[in-house]
Amino acid sequence: MAFRVGVLVSGRGTNLQALINASKKGVLSAEIAVVISNNPKAPALERAQKQQIPTKGIDPRAYPNTPAFEEAIVQELQNRKVDLVILAGFMKILSSTIIRAFPQRIINIHPALLPSFPGLHVQRKAIEHGVRFSGCTVHFVDESVDGGPIIIQAVVPLEPEDTEETLAARILKKEHQILPRAVQWIAKGRVKIEGRKVTIAGIRKRDEGSLTNPPLD
Ligand code: GRF
Repeated sequence: MAFRVGVLVSGRGTNLQALINASKKGVLSAEIAVVISNNPKAPALERAQKQQIPTKGIDPRAYPNTPAFEEAIVQELQNRKVDLVILAGFMKILSSTIIRAFPQRIINIHPALLPSFPGLHVQRKAIEHGVRFSGCTVHFVDESVDGGPIIIQAVVPLEPEDTEETLAARILKKEHQILPRAVQWIAKGRVKIEGRKVTIAGIRKRDEGSLTNPPLD
């Protein structure tokens, strides 16, 4: 049976689009079984609808409390029989209600090199801190904020003229590469978690050296 994923989104959905594109190209062998948003007006939902992917807006304001809201999400994901939950720009922090329903079966894409810069507005924080590199991280979700075991990271340099927007755009391109790849590895059963360490079966050794920024002259 196909590996089934449920994608949680809140906004524009370019990472969702990257998953859709990868699956159309055949480089991702997973079926997007449902796209769920806490924001019923999220443009991401339209992206899914265009591809005839089932969508569901689950508005927290319609529920008495967070556990009830999250229980509605869990119900929907279970009805759709998803094997993996992907947070792709889902702007709400999950509580144990969802996390315990899908142990080690939820992943998130974060636009910084964790554990640096968890939370929000992280591109701005990276610029303000003056770091030379930032990037993005796909990680398993546990009950910490942006703190679960790391699957893959991609690095981008910061340039002196960077603004929050230019840096975010550079990072986003990498997000679109690494998120579908992480999902494919999981779908193919190549990912093993041991404590904080994640190993991917069958990865070739890298041969290039380390990066520096500015470059060594
Ligand atoms: C991305 O930068 C992602 O890393 C963060 O939220 C943003 C979502 O963008 N968690 P999009 O909705 O996928 O375009």
